[in-house]
Amino acid sequence: MPMHPALKPVSGLIGTWRGAGRGEYPTIDSFEYTEEVTFAEAGKPFLTYVQKTWSPEGAPMHTETGYLRVCDGSALEFVFSQPTGQTELAEGTLIPAADGFSCELHSRVMNSASAKQVDKTRRTIELAGNVLTTSFAMAAVGVPMTHHLASEMRRA
Ligand code: HEM
Repeated sequence: MPMHPALKPVSGLIGTWRGAGRGEYPTIDSFEYTEEVTFAEAGKPFLTYVQKTWSPEGAPMHTETGYLRVCDGSALEFVFSQPTGQTELAEGTLIPAADGFSCELHSRVMNSASAKQVDKTRRTIELAGNVLTTSFAMAAVGVPMTHHLASEMRRA
């Protein structure tokens, strides 16, 4: 099954990425983690996304899954779900760059269910050849939009 042509702008993401991250937030202790992300195509106009993280001791930490769609060539729609019931629809515009692209995604719909309250998110994805860089900020638990995570991964 050939890759759906709508995915061409993000096809560089397909595969598995692994690297290190660091997290912080005003209400919690800072921490470090290992992150692994897999983007896969299924012959349809979306990529599937599976993210897993581990503590430096190897204990499982945050995990999320989702779907990434490209609309009209450059509008990205990324839906995320977390095991705690948290769901998020984020949108952004893809900016082509040498050997990749960057995109800043802003949440349009958030559902916190029984998880801690997250009002808004801002995620950045930057692909440059074999390096995938991410960052994440959120307005949550009464704190305005503030940095929570940054990671840098390479093709596994
Ligand atoms: C808190 C890790 C992604 C929302 C925390 C804490 C850790 C952590 C270690 C502190 C927990 C505690 O002290 O009980 C991570 C890791 C992530 C990740 C490793 C992925 C790489 C996310 C995402 C969201 C999120 C995607 C929201 C969409 C929160 C919230 C808190 C939190 C709301 C609670 C803050 C508070 O209680 O004051 N995270 N997180 N995290 N995280 Fe994350």
